[in-house]
Amino acid sequence: RKLTLMASLPPPKPHVVCIPAPAQGHVNPMMQLAQLLHSVGFHITFINLDFIHRRLLQSEGPNVIKDLIDFRFETIRDGLPSSDAGPDLLSLANSIIQKKYLAPILHLLKKLNSSSDVPQISCVVSDISMRCGLEAAEELGVLAFQFCSAAACSFMSILHFPELIKRGLVPLKDENQISNGYLDTTIDWIPGLKDIRLKDLCSFIRTTDPNDKWLNVMVDAAQSWLKASNVIFNTFDDLECEVLDAIACKIPHIYTIGPLSMIGEQLQKSEKRSMRSSLWKEDLECLNWLDKMEPNSVLYVNFGSTTVMTDQKLREFAWGLANSKHPFLWINRPDVMMGKSAILPLEFISETKDRGFLASWCPQDQVLLHCSIRGFLTHCGWNSTIESICGGVPLLCWPFFSDQQTNCRYACTTWGIGMEIDNDVKSEEVETIIKEFMEGEKGRKMRNKALEWKEKSVQATKQGGSSYNNFERLISKVRSPPE
Ligand code: UDX
Repeated sequence: RKLTLMASLPPPKPHVVCIPAPAQGHVNPMMQLAQLLHSVGFHITFINLDFIHRRLLQSEGPNVIKDLIDFRFETIRDGLPSSDAGPDLLSLANSIIQKKYLAPILHLLKKLNSSSDVPQISCVVSDISMRCGLEAAEELGVLAFQFCSAAACSFMSILHFPELIKRGLVPLKDENQISNGYLDTTIDWIPGLKDIRLKDLCSFIRTTDPNDKWLNVMVDAAQSWLKASNVIFNTFDDLECEVLDAIACKIPHIYTIGPLSMIGEQLQKSEKRSMRSSLWKEDLECLNWLDKMEPNSVLYVNFGSTTVMTDQKLREFAWGLANSKHPFLWINRPDVMMGKSAILPLEFISETKDRGFLASWCPQDQVLLHCSIRGFLTHCGWNSTIESICGGVPLLCWPFFSDQQTNCRYACTTWGIGMEIDNDVKSEEVETIIKEFMEGEKGRKMRNKALEWKEKSVQATKQGGSSYNNFERLISKVRSPPE
């Protein structure tokens, strides 16, 4: 009788462990992916470093980061001295390289596997920069996927850091090379990357020090990524076809399943993204403000989770915005200004109060889908870029660092949806470019192009589309018995 009962029990759910890298731009897409996998019936364990989990609870409240029976959060200790915001990115990157988190992750996975409360782990999906996730999966003998939260074009650029060094292009010979045109050198030998210059590659090449920490973090990343065998990308085939073909020659299995938010809509038609993963409290009032604005009229300004700038640059942006006379929604993180909190000039605030809304964080994915948004002044983080494509919103690009320069280049050339603002920002230039972007012919063309890309992303994520099919391929790989 016991045997009959067992035979009639449904098989245990596949159990996927998700391990994001500890930063906003990595936690968000991993959370989207985790919710997708949950929506197809998988049991999820989502592992954060403890400072990230604390921040999620602070910003969202305990009801939002909720432990469901089959969607559980676990934490491991970051073990670093930290401020309220948590440890700095470079210390985290170094802890990751030094494998500090391997032992605690492995310990946790073994604990999960010995518990009768959760199914046995079927696979680990870890951020591509959290190599400890891959190593823990290998040690446990379970399937491993690596998730790349950056675009395929910047992934490819980073893969070539060792070669850039070998060819003597990097590190720079002297500081002057940053301003004397050296960075305009065309790089035509990276497979799949078109019309790329040194200045468009990951910004960590911009150093004269061969021992520069970020340069070495990237070289280390490149060496480890080349050994990856299952990589998931938040992009879609049409958007990055050439570079994806080139990556497919190096990595055995790639899964382009983006835009994640759109594939989510296809799968969870009735259910909105239920769990948020913002590290700052979202100001929902901005959505009400957008409701009152004319359709297709507002410039949305947001420099993401890591950009910092001087007081002077913030003012240049402020006056450029004010003098353009266009309505704007401007999100300034409390720590966007180097060393102090962002305070805008009082004259700016009073002059723009009828057409501007200021806040410190917002539900960006929803903002970019709002019909009042006409354009996005952005730092070109990959999530921001792809979320903008989902909304059919063109980009005014002010890349800050890392992969953002590469995203900016693709937006402004290959995809035709972006215009770049000079790094040395001046209010007159900001005013002129905003006017051209919001009113001019160039802006109109970019808007049309952005709508075309939006349509292509819809095609890719709907049933039968490339991303949809790749997601199905991913699910069946998780479901298939271990080799
Ligand atoms: C950085 C990199 O530039 C990015 O390309 C990399 O892959 C991850 O780290 P970040 O500065 O965090 O990114 O920017 P971005 O990639 O755009 O991610 C920011 C995320 O925060 C987006 O998902 C965005 O929707 C969200 N966000 C941002 C909000 O929800 N509200 C805000 O007010 C601002």
